[in-house]
Amino acid sequence: MDLKASIRAIPDHPKPGIVFRDLTTLMGNPEAFAHTCGAMAEAFKSRGVTHVAGIEARGFIFGAAVADRLGCAFVPVRKAGKLPSETLRRSYALEYGEDTLEIHKDALPAGAKVLLLDDLLATGGTARATAELIREAGGEVLSAAFVVELEGLPGRAKLEELSLDVWSLTQFK
Ligand code: PRP
Ligand code: ADE
Repeated sequence: MDLKASIRAIPDHPKPGIVFRDLTTLMGNPEAFAHTCGAMAEAFKSRGVTHVAGIEARGFIFGAAVADRLGCAFVPVRKAGKLPSETLRRSYALEYGEDTLEIHKDALPAGAKVLLLDDLLATGGTARATAELIREAGGEVLSAAFVVELEGLPGRAKLEELSLDVWSLTQFK
């Protein structure tokens, strides 16, 4: 199926010069959403994933569905101040701003094999901070997986610097 056609482009959102890849149109298409989650689960079903770590907010939507398909646990990586128990935290720069992410200190048991999952890879700051949090919490990052990779930005290179395996379902220039 033509997954890319189900993703809407919004020019100049949230700032001039940014082409925002709007995945709400993919999520609003049941066939495209099922195809996306199914393809991500299929790609990792033989890798021994014990936990999918999804990044707030859009990574929750895809990550929970993929964890369900893989029959493994889901771990939320949340924006600062949302998780109720003790956390580890990392701040990072975004394509259009700055933010802080947290994971529960006890979210991952020893030996956890984690699939980091988000909707989109842009500059890589969000995923890099998440990979660092997963490692600090004691997990091994098997792969960093995205529905969309923006190839014009240094996201992949930034993750590969950390020796991370990077996987994406669709790519935009
Ligand atoms: C978006 C997107 C990724 C991140 C990618 O999230 O969902 O998480 O940006 O950007 P990067 O590769 O440059 O770090 P955003 O921070 O806009 O938050 P949201 O999901 O809560 O809307
Ligand atoms: N997150 C960071 N950059 C983005 C973009 N260009 N489109 C959608 N989400 C994003």
